[in-house]
Amino acid sequence: MEEKVIDETKQGQSLILEAKEGNTRKLFIESFGCAMNFSDSEIVASILANEGFNTTNNLEEADLVLVNTCSIRDKAEQTVRKRLEKYNAVKRINPRMKVGVLGCMAERLKEKFLEEEKIVDMVVGPDAYKDLPNLVREVDEGRDAVNVLLSKDETYGDISPVRIGTNGINALVSITRGCDNMCTFCVVPFTRGRERSRDPQSILKEVLDLAEKGYKEITLLGQNVDSYLWYGGGLKKDFKNATEMAQATSTNFAQLLEMVAQAFPKMRIRFSTSNPQDMTEDVFHVMAKYNNICNHVHLPFQSGSDRILKEMNRQHTAAEYLDLVNRMWEILPNTSISQDVIVGFPGETEEDHRATLKLLDEVKFIFGYMYKYSERPGTMAARKFEDDVPEETKKRRLTEIVDAQRSHSAYRTQQFIGKTTEVLIEKESKKNEDQWSGRNEQSIVVVFPKGNYKPGDFVNVKINACTSATLIGEAVGYSEYN
Ligand code: SAH
Ligand code: F3S
Repeated sequence: MEEKVIDETKQGQSLILEAKEGNTRKLFIESFGCAMNFSDSEIVASILANEGFNTTNNLEEADLVLVNTCSIRDKAEQTVRKRLEKYNAVKRINPRMKVGVLGCMAERLKEKFLEEEKIVDMVVGPDAYKDLPNLVREVDEGRDAVNVLLSKDETYGDISPVRIGTNGINALVSITRGCDNMCTFCVVPFTRGRERSRDPQSILKEVLDLAEKGYKEITLLGQNVDSYLWYGGGLKKDFKNATEMAQATSTNFAQLLEMVAQAFPKMRIRFSTSNPQDMTEDVFHVMAKYNNICNHVHLPFQSGSDRILKEMNRQHTAAEYLDLVNRMWEILPNTSISQDVIVGFPGETEEDHRATLKLLDEVKFIFGYMYKYSERPGTMAARKFEDDVPEETKKRRLTEIVDAQRSHSAYRTQQFIGKTTEVLIEKESKKNEDQWSGRNEQSIVVVFPKGNYKPGDFVNVKINACTSATLIGEAVGYSEYN
């Protein structure tokens, strides 16, 4: 339960796209961290496909190695440093190989990367991928290349990522980039810049393309999807006041969600991540209106203590969070909620920790991503507070939280026993090659004997047993979705 991704098995996996005829150079690109990084790597590979590069999963034969990095916690950065050591070893066999660092660590460390890690030839921040053709040319000519400019309007809306190397079933579609929230512990506003939304028409176009290629499920992605607002481009905060913002012809998240759900009734839709302070009831009503929007919300709460929440600069209290959850369950009783939480934020007392355990117990989340606070240089928390909770205490609190979450997950999965749930088959089960694995609407993994079904089918599965994270059952027929 550490780094958060849509599929944990993907961490550090290289991305493979269909080879483009005539391309002679080899690109090895791998990603760490959040779903947005995985989506960005598809954009990067698409840009470089037009520059003569085909992807490879063989590091030894690569002309260009790119690593898309995460800065969210120190541990994530250490993982990347280890990968750089590995590239260094390979470079001894293949001295032609060039190495580029992409993503949040590139943005955070900038030129310093070139000094700290001699292996690195190129440093590219998350808003500079369109400059890659120039940067690659620089590197080819023997110079180091750096572009870490953050942008006010880049959304890569005009680049339709090629995704042929994926499973052909689930796709990520980014709708916003950056974040304006400035949670005091978080490095994202510094590494991904200000929040901007993508043109709804370009989103619809991308989903159409995915539907035509046979994709069955999309996840609309953003650091904070509920604050999506399109009014023609640029930054949301350029408005002088709320009236001016309200008067502009705009599309908000609930409207975007409805547009996508209505236009693609056979496409299953998810979205992530929701921030309690921006999530509004109109989103719940849209979810209730369209069957193809999954009844699952990822709603980080970070802490159950109002004092800590305030110091984190989260714009809600524990009671407001619970009100939102209860309102959602009134409108959408079958919705599952997952969480992110941080233990050991500076100054966190036993009482604060107990408040977190209490909130966990009140909601009983379906699953969660649980983290020990990791001080990030340059953030408000690093500047203002001492990282004073001892490592041992952080560890113990994390264990208590993980144990509580595990029992809540078990409680939630047990509710499905004896019921039938709709599953989109994604792949073979890791534990049993005679079984399929997929997820239901609530984002719970379901495994069942293969029968004559195949990946991409929507199947009704009767649940007979469960573990805390997985439902086990048997297929009783295709669902109405096929
Ligand atoms: N809005 C984002 C949040 C990105 S960070 C999203 O789309 O998911 C993901 C999670 O990492 C946060 O919700 C938080 O729980 C955790 N996190 C962020 N900064 C952290 C830090 N400095 N130490 C520990 N955990 C952190
Ligand atoms: Fe980070 Fe808070 Fe934004 S966790 S990504 S600053 S919503």
